[in-house]
Amino acid sequence: MVERVVVGPWKTNCYIYSSSKKECIVIDPGGDETEIASRVDVLNMVPVGIALTHGHVDHVAALGRLRASYASRGYSLKIAIHSADRKFLGTSGRETHRESLEFLDSEAWSFFGMESMELPRADVKLSEGDRVFGMDLVVLETPGHTPGGVCFYSEKEGVLFSGDTLFFDGHGRTDLPGGNEKKLRESFRKKLSVLPPETRVFPGHGPFTTIEREKRSNDFLQEPPPAPAHPEPPKQEPKKTPSRKRTVKKSARARPSAKKAAPARAKDGKPRLRKPVKASPRKTSKPKRARSAPKRAPSRPQKPRRAKGTRARARAPSAKRRARAAR
Ligand SMILES: [Fe+2]
Repeated sequence: MVERVVVGPWKTNCYIYSSSKKECIVIDPGGDETEIASRVDVLNMVPVGIALTHGHVDHVAALGRLRASYASRGYSLKIAIHSADRKFLGTSGRETHRESLEFLDSEAWSFFGMESMELPRADVKLSEGDRVFGMDLVVLETPGHTPGGVCFYSEKEGVLFSGDTLFFDGHGRTDLPGGNEKKLRESFRKKLSVLPPETRVFPGHGPFTTIEREKRSNDFLQEPPPAPAHPEPPKQEPKKTPSRKRTVKKSARARPSAKKAAPARAKDGKPRLRKPVKASPRKTSKPKRARSAPKRAPSRPQKPRRAKGTRARARAPSAKRRARAAR
């Protein structure tokens, strides 16, 4: 059984849900706690808890007053919210709401009566797969609108309470503090697109819809187009530049003089490869060869060669002289 009550200045959909004949839960009491309680009484039910799809003020504004009214009648209502949205409740709640409301509208603070609003602490921390207050509702973590945004899904009843995650022809905004469009798209893809198409969706604002309808018209639920081949060409281009550096490195390593020059440059904190590779190997190698050449020349015993020549030349005329002298 699903009963809707539109509450508060921003026309929030508060739901009364029951999978039994006696007990129910209240989802997102964003205002008008008297109207909510009277509707529960008409249904002849007793609420066992309050479940929140997320912590925004238009979904929690009547939280304290509703719980207090039932407490006066002898009923203790527990409050359940995802742990990532607990900061909207308790002592930190007022400041957390101030960030969002100042971003949205300066008058919203007074619209919701934030100065006197009671924000009780959460009693139950929700996480993926939890059953909500013993009902056949299961928690689907759908962050993106807020960090702790969730949907409540009943496979048995074929219903989804989507909060501000999924709307008729739309989705929750992601520009408020804590919002994240990438995460919201991921939530749609992983959690909502896999639900049966006939699932009836009860959003936090606006009219009802179904998963099948939103898959046809909602861009967040439509299959993304196949990825174009754009990423490949840009990847090939940057590969060329490192390949040049690698060839430079190899050539530098091939020259033994470059290895000696690199550590000296590294002490100055400069790159080791670029400057030593181009300049130092040529400067250091050539002078060494030039210097070693003249050292070897005088060390070689060339005097005997010259001496041989000179001696041969000297011996020839001396023989002639001797011949002449003999003649
Ligand atoms: Fe919201």
